[in-house]
Amino acid sequence: AIIRRHERDEKRDESMSKPLDVVVMAAGMGTRMKSQRPKVLHQLAGRALLHHVLDMAGALAPRSVVVITGSQAEQVEAALADPAKLANPALHAKLRFARQSPQLGTGHAVQQAMALLQDDGNTLVLSGDVPLTEAQTLSALMPMAEQGALALLTVQGGDASGYGRVVREGEGEGERITRIVEHKDANEEQRRINEWYSGIMCLPTARLRVWLARLMATERRNAQSEFYLTDLVAMAAQDGVPVLAHPTADLTQVQGVNDPLQLAQLERAFQWRQAQRLMREGVRMQDPARFDLRGRLKCGKDVEIDVSCVFEGDVSLGDGVRIGAHCVIANARIEAGAQVHPFTHIDGEAAGVTVGTGARIGPFARLRPGAHLGENVHVGNFVEIKNSTLGAGSKANHLAYLGDATVGARVNVGAGVISANYDGANKHRTVIEDEVHVGSNSVLVAPLTLGKGGTVGAGSVITKDTPPGTLSLTRAKPVQVANWKRPVKK
Ligand code: UD1
Ligand code: CA
Repeated sequence: AIIRRHERDEKRDESMSKPLDVVVMAAGMGTRMKSQRPKVLHQLAGRALLHHVLDMAGALAPRSVVVITGSQAEQVEAALADPAKLANPALHAKLRFARQSPQLGTGHAVQQAMALLQDDGNTLVLSGDVPLTEAQTLSALMPMAEQGALALLTVQGGDASGYGRVVREGEGEGERITRIVEHKDANEEQRRINEWYSGIMCLPTARLRVWLARLMATERRNAQSEFYLTDLVAMAAQDGVPVLAHPTADLTQVQGVNDPLQLAQLERAFQWRQAQRLMREGVRMQDPARFDLRGRLKCGKDVEIDVSCVFEGDVSLGDGVRIGAHCVIANARIEAGAQVHPFTHIDGEAAGVTVGTGARIGPFARLRPGAHLGENVHVGNFVEIKNSTLGAGSKANHLAYLGDATVGARVNVGAGVISANYDGANKHRTVIEDEVHVGSNSVLVAPLTLGKGGTVGAGSVITKDTPPGTLSLTRAKPVQVANWKRPVKK
């Protein structure tokens, strides 16, 4: 997706001579979310709404991006402090903030950015709560602004209720957009207009400055006592500046998030899009409606994903990989032919997880950061592996913990085996060389090396290195008392 965006950047650069500055309005309260968290920081597919908006701005190769903050401004600004959270981290250097306090409407919000904007450019206004507009759609507004027009992204169809209506006057060739009337200010007839404003406009910055100054001198005589950015449309029409609309029928791209219901609807729409993209690449999904990707997923050929799996961060699935139902997989590389059985949790965090070619993991397995499993490794139910490598063909099939362990090839780790890696202060390594068999319910107290081909008897507590080929046992002698009489109740 990033490569495609760069291609688009180049296209824009060819067609545009003026620099582009973006203003993102993110100062509103978001009261309808009924949340302590600022609305623009609520998560869609695992990322803040505002990060989605900044990514779409970044795809247009702007000169600068000004984010208007107001309610919980510190929190919003802090959330944008990490460049790595942007699709294009280089955009971070172009971010500026302007505070809006109190919040007197969208016109007043954009006014706060004017000190940071230069008149030689065009300004694109975005809303922090409209996260899924595609860069291509926004690009359609650029040539219009380039010609000096006020360009509006509008919607034809859908439920216009609550939105600003686009008023057109005149007939045929003479038809012009003359104003936008907010839902709350609209009369019956205007409310029947089925073209509504998305909240996204693009226009020459020099015009924006003049019209905003005029707007700020008005009396806010409207239903919400606000300075409406949308009132600029009537000013443009009065000044004889063309107002051009780019209508879209794709509601998902213009849908705003005002409450948890709309957030959930957009989440599903976004997930459906991602699932479609993957299925077009050949990935087979048992049910794309029960698929969640909160990050990036790269798939080879003949990948199959069963229902209700969640993928996070960076995950890659090699050719022929099968993922069973209800798996959560984050930051992991699953190599060709591997199978992950149902209810497995894999989280590589920063260190990553590797599952080797042909391996079989789960059901109910847990792979934590730094678990690197070789070819044909088997890891079964209730086995937890952290910061450990397992060589080709090794098996830990039931109820075990391997932490900070270096396990060779063809090792068998019995049920209930624990690598006791932590002495209460420090972590120590357990080395298990090739072909060792560790009997069930053994505790391996690290630091420790089990030499090649050795065997540990079931139920042992091993505290000393074992030489290759030996059988090691720590077991109390069995005691048998014949004809034992159980105590009886008095
Ligand atoms: C706005 C438009 C409306 C359009 C709709 C599309 C205006 C007056 N109306 O209405 O025509 O159909 O978007 O979604 O522009 N914000 C600030 N400071 C403020 C007020 C708002 O930063 O003082 C921010 C909000 O955080 C939000 C965005 O601006 O991100 C839009 O504000 P909102 O109040 O949601 O406008 P709508 O009523 O949706
Ligand atoms: Ca809104």
